[in-house]
Amino acid sequence: MQNAFSFRLILLVLLFGLSSAQLSSNFYSSSCPNLLSTIKTAVNSAVSNEARMGASLLRLHFHDCFVNGCDASVLLDDTANFTGEQNAGPNANSLRGLEVIDTIKSQVEKLCPATVSCADILSVAARDSVVALGGSSWTVVLGRRDSTTASTSAANSNLPGPDLNLTALITAFSNKGFTAKEMVALSGAHTIGKARCTTFRARLYNEANINASFATSLKAKCPSSGGNNNISPLDTVTPTTFDNNYFKNLLTQKGLLHSDQQLFSGGSTDSQVNAYSSNSAAFMKDFASAMVKMGNLSPLTGTNGQIRLNCGKTN
Ligand code: HEM
Ligand SMILES: *[C@@H]1O[C@H](CO)[C@@H](O)[C@H](O)[C@H]1NC(C)=O
Ligand SMILES: *[C@@H]1O[C@H](CO)[C@@H](O)[C@H](O)[C@H]1NC(C)=O
Ligand SMILES: *[C@@H]1O[C@H](CO)[C@@H](O)[C@H](O)[C@H]1NC(C)=O
Repeated sequence: MQNAFSFRLILLVLLFGLSSAQLSSNFYSSSCPNLLSTIKTAVNSAVSNEARMGASLLRLHFHDCFVNGCDASVLLDDTANFTGEQNAGPNANSLRGLEVIDTIKSQVEKLCPATVSCADILSVAARDSVVALGGSSWTVVLGRRDSTTASTSAANSNLPGPDLNLTALITAFSNKGFTAKEMVALSGAHTIGKARCTTFRARLYNEANINASFATSLKAKCPSSGGNNNISPLDTVTPTTFDNNYFKNLLTQKGLLHSDQQLFSGGSTDSQVNAYSSNSAAFMKDFASAMVKMGNLSPLTGTNGQIRLNCGKTN
């Protein structure tokens, strides 16, 4: 009896201990007071140099968080004896922005040595990217630490692909704790950035629910064979503005990826797409909340993981 009670007490203490290892907005306020302004300046400069970089940094954070949590695992470079996530299917030949994160990290190391994680830098950079392109802001909570491992197989199985149907998209996000509504909001990230022909060719040549004039103009850049790496904007109308135009496009069958158009093709998410297409403020608000939730996916905290000195490799 006594033992069972003590066991339960210990369990409670353990659970409380774990749940208290939470991220906070002021995590670096005394250890690195100029962190946020340093990251913002660097992101603004990268985005003004090339608007698409904002999209690439946002995607990098998503691809980090969906694979064993926001732990900068995606930033670990492959070496002769280490194979990480960068050459997994969803990342190979499409991951961008690593050098921007490296630049920010070296500035931050000068400012506050061995203090700020790569995972936190990436989370802030994703938020600053959205803001730099006209989206609404949110508060990034901090205190993540960096992994010492990465997983090719988890990257292949956890990151959704462009061929998924609506059911599979809902499942992929539900596996990470997101509702279908949050999945729709997060997909609005495709209001910026570009995709390679190889990711949307099948839609151009095989699908019926694509706008005819839209398909014709895309076929010129994405032939039925060859041109795999030719790129087209995910939102043709306002490709470098973070707005709700992605949803407007879906209403006229101008989703670029098969997975994009799945959100508006007669299924359960049509009404949400409609709502976001006519209410930009609702989209911005829901996107921001879902990004905070994404940023909270199983972070390493406390003494777990490490503060990498170089984001591309473990210490
Ligand atoms: C809903 C499921 C999703 C699928 C199937 C998907 C798939 C894709 C694909 C295939 C590309 C083009 C990559 C290439 O050229 O190989 C892409 C680009 C992009 N994705 Fe997603 N994505 C999804 C959700 C998200 C989410 C949740 C975010 C961020 C919150 C996001 C952000 C982006 C951005 C910003 C780009 C453009 C990147 C650039 O231009 O460098 N995506 N996505
Ligand atoms: C892996 O390779 C690096 C050089 O790329 C080397 O410095 C390191 O010692 C190797 N690690 C192991 C465990 O073999
Ligand atoms: C969606 O895709 C899955 C996996 O490919 C398949 O099993 C399922 O039948 C598809 N659902 C619909 C409604 O097409
Ligand atoms: C295709 O796009 C044109 C021009 O933007 C638009 O007028 C038309 O309604 C669209 N077609 C469909 C089926 O949505």
